[in-house]
Amino acid sequence: MSLFITFEGIEGCGKTTQISLLCESLRLQGHQVVVTREPGGCAIADAIRQILLDPVHQAMTPKTELLLYAAARAQHVAEVIQPALAQGRIVLCDRYIDATLAYQGYGRGLDRALVEDLNQLATSGCRPDLTLLLDMPAADGLERAIQRNSLQNLATEGRFELEAVAFHDRVRRGYLDLAEKEAQRFRVIEARGSVAEVAERILAVVKTFFASRKQS
Ligand code: TYD
Repeated sequence: MSLFITFEGIEGCGKTTQISLLCESLRLQGHQVVVTREPGGCAIADAIRQILLDPVHQAMTPKTELLLYAAARAQHVAEVIQPALAQGRIVLCDRYIDATLAYQGYGRGLDRALVEDLNQLATSGCRPDLTLLLDMPAADGLERAIQRNSLQNLATEGRFELEAVAFHDRVRRGYLDLAEKEAQRFRVIEARGSVAEVAERILAVVKTFFASRKQS
């Protein structure tokens, strides 16, 4: 039974760590799991990712940014996500359509109906079954992201990590708004706390989701 789960949240919310923990426990339960991320996930989309995240590209306009995310997504969906789902895999994806609505729509202020149309075009309507929103205040997340970068000895922050807290706060509020509008698909998870605590919250949500799918 294929299943498409996406992870969303602001910078530093801990998505990447939590995805690998969930992947591990699903594999232990015998599921076939594919882990992927956006922007990226395949060679063409990874090349677009380099352009998008390079801090040298300060001149990039919001429209260029939107179109590049959409282009990367179109390739990723066709090359990775759809084939994996067709083979009955569980796909765990680090960011997807909601990131574009939250960052380019709520964050940059682009027309959200237009973003939705582009999402539809890029994905051919391939929507997540479940979206886990790891929520925490923007200032907490940014602090974690900057700490992580200095631990990894990254000389520069990515383009988005250079944005002010106000930007990330708009993104966070955007995500919460989306979660409220699509409560069926979204689960909001408190992302503050230890890695183990958050992992437990996520497992509980996923277990409940599996149980509800079996019943229906
Ligand atoms: P990444 O280093 O993967 O950050 P994170 O670990 O926080 O996901 O960089 C991805 C960045 O791209 C992140 O700042 C969010 C941004 N983004 C968008 O603005 N729009 C999108 O559609 C996607 C997928 C990501």
